[in-house]
Amino acid sequence: MTSDAHNQTRRMVLKSAAAISTASLLPLAAQGKEVRESDAVMDISKDEKYWAEIAKDFDVTPDIINLENGYWGLMSRPVLDTYLDHTRMVNRENSYYARRGFKNDFKAATARVAQELGAKDGEIVLTRNATEALQGLIDGYDRLKPGEAVMYADLDYYSMIASMDVLAAKNGCDVVRLNIPEPVDYDGLIAFYRAALADNPKVRLLLLTHIGHRTGLQIPVKAVTKMARAAGVDVIVDAAHSYGQIDVKIDDIGADFIGFNLHKWIGAPIGVGAMYIRKERLDAIAPNPSAETDEKDNIVGRVHTGTTNFAAIITLPAAFDYHTLIGAQNKEMRLRYLRDVWVEAVADIKNLSVLTGNDPRLHGGITSFRFDSTTSVAGNKAIVERLLADHGIFTTHRNGVSKGACVRVTPSIYNSADDCLRLAEALHTLSKTL
Ligand SMILES: Cc1ncc(COP(=O)(O)O)c(C=O)c1O
Repeated sequence: MTSDAHNQTRRMVLKSAAAISTASLLPLAAQGKEVRESDAVMDISKDEKYWAEIAKDFDVTPDIINLENGYWGLMSRPVLDTYLDHTRMVNRENSYYARRGFKNDFKAATARVAQELGAKDGEIVLTRNATEALQGLIDGYDRLKPGEAVMYADLDYYSMIASMDVLAAKNGCDVVRLNIPEPVDYDGLIAFYRAALADNPKVRLLLLTHIGHRTGLQIPVKAVTKMARAAGVDVIVDAAHSYGQIDVKIDDIGADFIGFNLHKWIGAPIGVGAMYIRKERLDAIAPNPSAETDEKDNIVGRVHTGTTNFAAIITLPAAFDYHTLIGAQNKEMRLRYLRDVWVEAVADIKNLSVLTGNDPRLHGGITSFRFDSTTSVAGNKAIVERLLADHGIFTTHRNGVSKGACVRVTPSIYNSADDCLRLAEALHTLSKTL
């Protein structure tokens, strides 16, 4: 495609997306700029006026400053409206829609996810969430032999860890559990995984979490997957938190098996995720026991959801329209900036550690902190309560980190830099008492 044609396509995409979100286009128009492809890479991360306009697309409770957007992501108003319309339609048409119209809409939604992720036809199946996608991959992985081993780390998600334990036990395999060093830099992380693979030659399956839910640490999954592949180790990547928080596609992850969430950072309704299996590797994942005969040689047979939230699935294209309208890279840069605002403002607090390094390759928008004196779960829960009661700031505690519990801070694109500065101020106040 010529760059003119490309720009024209981009303008058309934006035009159709504008039909669901006029507020989002205002800032560019207000700046007297034509909306072009290049705007997606212009650094607007610090433009509070721009993001204040975007924030108008989100109906957020005024009761708190919500810095806990890691559980799931608010739908923007245009996406919510589409979802409510779809819910009404599904409810009205009942099985008449589910049995006749849904099949094509499901295919279209799946095709949109595949296109956005840069996956080939037949490499994506929709799930209800990342858990269903990842547990389908882990439970279905059928390449292990007795005496081999699986490997995961303390920062991985607890339910995937549990599934890896069950998989190992079922196959007579050992479990190698790593504790990711803290603090760690980018090269240190790569060296850590290189050594772990070299020290554990029986390992055949490795779980990697792209962006961890405990501290926000970003693992260099592409580099580690390459090393693992060279050592004959398959990798399952948990991309529940990375997709949409940072601007990534399948090729940037590089693994054969990936689980995604679409209700965290893509802004889809709750109840949608996706499983990816590289086409050539489909037979490494056994079909779900409920797969129909004609689904067994198809990724569709790797998941069996039963009755699903039809309206949530068919709202996916609207969620992607909105996500694309803002621009995946703009979103990533804004989230990183919001993280940097509070992290830089607490750098002088001597008794507080920030648990992701400042190297942008090591984090997205999520970053946790820990006061030196407070490593217990109860202590971190108490800090969360004080932030809420004394400062109106909502965060969450996280456990399972080898060096102790922590408090996680997760801004969203509707948050302002001021929200993050308010957190920093609160942490200065708290630091004097801990
Ligand atoms: C790293 C990670 N993996 C998997 C999940 C599971 O996502 P869900 O509960 O939407 O299935 C989460 C949820 O927070 C997560 O943070």
